[in-house]
Amino acid sequence: MVIRSAVLLLGFAVCSCRAEIAPPTLNISLDEDPEVRWAPLIKVFDVDYLNKAAAEIIDATVPKWVHHAIKPIVMALEKYVPQPYVGEIRGLAAHFGGSLADVIILNFAYEVSAFCTSIIAQDKKGHLYHGRNLDYPHPVLRNMTIDVVFLKNGEVAYRGTSFAGYVGLWTGQSPNKFTVSGDQRGSEHLWNWWKNVVSAFIFRRSPVSWLVRETLEVAENFEDAVMRLSKIPIITGVYYIVGGVRPGEGAVITRDRTGPADIWPLDPVNGGWYRVETNFDHWLPPPARDHRREAAIIALNATGQDHIDMEALYQVLSLFPVCNGITVYTTTMSAAAPENYKTLVRPQGCGLD
Ligand SMILES: *[C@@H]1O[C@H](CO)[C@@H](O)[C@H](O)[C@H]1NC(C)=O
Ligand SMILES: *[C@@H]1O[C@H](CO)[C@@H](O)[C@H](O)[C@H]1NC(C)=O
Ligand SMILES: *[C@@H]1O[C@H](CO)[C@@H](O)[C@H](O)[C@H]1NC(C)=O
Repeated sequence: MVIRSAVLLLGFAVCSCRAEIAPPTLNISLDEDPEVRWAPLIKVFDVDYLNKAAAEIIDATVPKWVHHAIKPIVMALEKYVPQPYVGEIRGLAAHFGGSLADVIILNFAYEVSAFCTSIIAQDKKGHLYHGRNLDYPHPVLRNMTIDVVFLKNGEVAYRGTSFAGYVGLWTGQSPNKFTVSGDQRGSEHLWNWWKNVVSAFIFRRSPVSWLVRETLEVAENFEDAVMRLSKIPIITGVYYIVGGVRPGEGAVITRDRTGPADIWPLDPVNGGWYRVETNFDHWLPPPARDHRREAAIIALNATGQDHIDMEALYQVLSLFPVCNGITVYTTTMSAAAPENYKTLVRPQGCGLD
């Protein structure tokens, strides 16, 4: 026990003496043509660095032979990719001077292995707080993390956190309406997964992160967002965590490709003042080696509904193993207080390692 607490203390020390940094914020205007709207990226990032980083991620995610094999498929597929994504992806390829196929592959590479923890919680006054850690086994993403503010007529339409070169969103906020995060559900063999991508476009199923962005763009309120995130066909299973602005507006949606497998709402009246979702169905125990869910629940219980707020939620998301060696960033947000949206990039080896 003594050794364990010493190790824990050391862990905190390591975590707090390395700096967490806010990522760059980009304004992207939806009034501009999709092919040029990501131009602000090249003011913030060095093009050579981004190209190198993108190549590294593709190499780490897609075996070389698969990479060669899918390039022609990807090019044939391009005509099925819907707007505005196809325009944005074409524009990105032009800005980076990279191959169009590789920018498309990059946009799908991220869809395969994102591990995450999302928490939605309600305090005693009925305020909602939503937090998420995005875990991804590639350190270069720390340098590619961006907060993106999407503007329409010069006003904030919605915002989110993403990676340079990626047009979908796993984390976002529609101001004064709702917040949403996505966590990967299950894992698929890359080759099967590519077959899904191909059939997806032909059958018009959305990548999971595009549905997040579309929902942020069009949903009127929390209920509308939950409806859309539950029902619209997507290419693979996922968990969508949604927070609203009024008491009780919080839910974890467990998605199959064609519709919801389960919707798990907050139930504050009966003690359900928070919901924790990692990468496993909430009604099943997680694998024995994965303690993220348990650690988050213990920390939330210790915090208590009286003391939950943005800062306390951030602290829960900072504890090992909720925050761990592959955690790239943490976002905390609350749709009713949109100005408090905050993302911090974690130092490599957050928590203990
Ligand atoms: C982004 O847009 C907002 C709202 O229009 C504006 O206040 C801010 O100055 C812009 N930031 C940059 C870096 O252009
Ligand atoms: C991230 O950028 C910093 C500064 O530019 C650099 O020192 C570091 O090596 C980069 N990290 C990765 C994983 O590329
Ligand atoms: C957390 O609190 C809830 C409600 O009081 C309780 O049912 C649950 O067992 C607690 N979990 C842990 C791991 O402490």
